[in-house]
Amino acid sequence: MKALVLAGGTGSRLRPFSHSTPKQLVPVANKPVLFHGLEAIRAAGITDVGIIVNSASAAIRTAVGDGSALGVDVTYLPQDEPRGLAHCVMIARDYLGDDDFLMYLGDNVFADGITEPVAQFQAERPAAQLAVVKVADPSEYGVAELDPSGRVVALEEKPARPRSNYAVTGAYFFSPQIHEAVQGIRPSWRNELEITDALQWLVDQEQEVRAYVCTGYWKDTGNVTDLLDCNRALLEKTTSGVRGSVDPLSQIGASVVVEAGATVTASRIDGPAVIGSGTSIKNSYIGPYTAIGSGCRVENSAVEDSILLDRASIQGVRSINGSLIGRECDVSQARQELRVHRLIMGDDSHVEVPA
Ligand code: DAU
Repeated sequence: MKALVLAGGTGSRLRPFSHSTPKQLVPVANKPVLFHGLEAIRAAGITDVGIIVNSASAAIRTAVGDGSALGVDVTYLPQDEPRGLAHCVMIARDYLGDDDFLMYLGDNVFADGITEPVAQFQAERPAAQLAVVKVADPSEYGVAELDPSGRVVALEEKPARPRSNYAVTGAYFFSPQIHEAVQGIRPSWRNELEITDALQWLVDQEQEVRAYVCTGYWKDTGNVTDLLDCNRALLEKTTSGVRGSVDPLSQIGASVVVEAGATVTASRIDGPAVIGSGTSIKNSYIGPYTAIGSGCRVENSAVEDSILLDRASIQGVRSINGSLIGRECDVSQARQELRVHRLIMGDDSHVEVPA
């Protein structure tokens, strides 16, 4: 079985981060979203991985390389424009041959991995299998209707009035029959070749499409709120490990990782939290659900429930919460008395200030 990982797309809901970084490389719990997926694929026993990339693929190629560091063998498959998930299957036709494959959306995270649905697919081997999750409002996802045996009887992409609560996640399991299905559909209202339509085509041909109902944590990290939520869920699984240097004036709570080369001085860290290598935390409070990347500097500040990307700096700011701060961003207290907020922000940035 092979894997086809989709890491193209535009990432429009993750601006400004996606201006400079593909959305699949934004870190949660200090590891790019895409790496969480590739590790789950490897853990499920799949090592042949084709990755769909777009014109901004250089960053993904640099980060993932040939995949050997993650235990997988990667082939890159370029896509000119984001023409839809079913279009990705078409592009990968030669790479996939007549093998069964897992199609995995590179912005999805399954905290408990995907080993179980892979095993179910391999044991039952229907024409296709979806991984679905029961959610209160599935209208922003593909939605599957199931019969009591778990067979999929109908599908719809982002319906205004969903007919079930089963959201289609970003893990699809396909036999080679999907190649005929993707040839049988037309572009949707958003001008994409939808994989949902290809699956509906299989259902209409009375091919067996089954659902695996995931009960563990799953998230499509397409926007900032979902990224922070995912960061919280993955940090929950953190086991303590202090490999950096912590001075005697500092207090480190449970479930805190301080990477080698990080320094913590006169500070308190309440986990779950992770502090990246080469980062300096001084005279500060780091609260639960905070992931701080490498080479960051936090001084005289308090940060919780946030993600700082590499080399970000926060100085003299006592109340940072629910924030995502990009690489080399600098948030600091004004040196002179300012009665205004002084903001130097890139395109599509978002700031909230107290009333
Ligand atoms: O996350 C689950 C949802 O993913 C499903 O519920 C939907 O049925 C499915 O259509 C998809 O919806 P999204 O609107 O969230 O898909 P998005 O455009 O974000 O693309 C998902 C991933 O695939 C993302 O990593 C970008 C990549 N991609 C997307 C397109 C359209 C490509 O590589 N090429 C493409 O042409």
